[in-house]
Amino acid sequence: YLVDKGNHRHFMAKEIHEQPEVVGRTLAHYVDMANGRIALPEALPFDFAKLSRLSITACGTAFYAGLVAKYWFETIARLPVEIDVASETRYREPPLERDGLTLVISQSGETADTLASLRYAKAQGQHSLAVVNVPTSTIARECSVVMPTLAGPEIGVASTKAFSCQLTVLLCLAIAAGRARGTLDAARERALVDALITVPGLMAESVKLEAEVEVLSREIAKARDVLYLGRGTSYPMALEGALKLKEISYIHAEGYAAGELKHGPIALIDETVPVIVIAPHDAIFEKTVSNMQEVAARGGRIVLIGDAKGAADHGLDTLATLTMPDVDPVVAPIVYAVPVQLLAYHTAVFMGKDVDQPRNLAKSVTVE
Ligand code: G6P
Repeated sequence: YLVDKGNHRHFMAKEIHEQPEVVGRTLAHYVDMANGRIALPEALPFDFAKLSRLSITACGTAFYAGLVAKYWFETIARLPVEIDVASETRYREPPLERDGLTLVISQSGETADTLASLRYAKAQGQHSLAVVNVPTSTIARECSVVMPTLAGPEIGVASTKAFSCQLTVLLCLAIAAGRARGTLDAARERALVDALITVPGLMAESVKLEAEVEVLSREIAKARDVLYLGRGTSYPMALEGALKLKEISYIHAEGYAAGELKHGPIALIDETVPVIVIAPHDAIFEKTVSNMQEVAARGGRIVLIGDAKGAADHGLDTLATLTMPDVDPVVAPIVYAVPVQLLAYHTAVFMGKDVDQPRNLAKSVTVE
């Protein structure tokens, strides 16, 4: 595997652009394409049907992948999920059932807090499953079962392709769990797999928004604060969008569940605060539109990352609309990762920041 920038200016750009390929490769590892079903690469030492809940722990971007997965496991497999950042899990010492399951997510497989939480869970008699990108890592070695992300080496400190590959693997796992628990039939599984198979192509299409994103980034670069909003799986995507922006551009950004706007962040809204709304046209789109109206009524400048149906529906003035291809709402987070990452990247590049090596951050945090 050649680790160079190719013809990109930064590793982060290269890694964003690589996503259609590496998500495709990851999918091929988990999907039986001929039969339209999930085929996990390894047998599981536990039975999803016997679990009363799933505990997920991770740090940073991997934690947000876990937060998206919570929606998937709960809706697709009706499996209750408890999730926390690993630095809290390890000291909170939550009660964990013997023979239950802890899922850890990590690009490097070396993050100290994630590893400590894993060791705690194992000491409680839990099975452990790791979604990791580095197969030789400590976390991979210490887990009872490893589900790899096939993103290849990720060099940019801000995680991009590892994140979309984590989401891909987690959705495959949620589907496998749903089959085991009898909460989805073969037809629904096939429909979900069909949706998953469209993802690499849709990501490639989304990359074509880059020129538009670059223009928009010049506006975002002027802001002191940026708010990201979303509902459902777009809520963790809002958190991830805000994290990406602050990590590499140093602009203060916050992600919020759109419905929480009125419980605080709405006080911040004026014409100087761009509000990035992540909203595919899903079952709760209308609810998000009412939050957009609340923002517009206070002079806030909205950037909608949505699809053509949504853009036609809301009837509001926006600073910009990034029109995404139509996607099945279940897989939307994987595809919507692209514009979210591109926006952070171009804002930081426009501001002259070192996007691959942001100040104060490390790629792998092996100390507490
Ligand atoms: C660091 C990186 C983040 C990453 C987090 C978790 O803070 O800068 O990009 O999300 O660690 O790392 P892991 O390797 O466990 O996914």
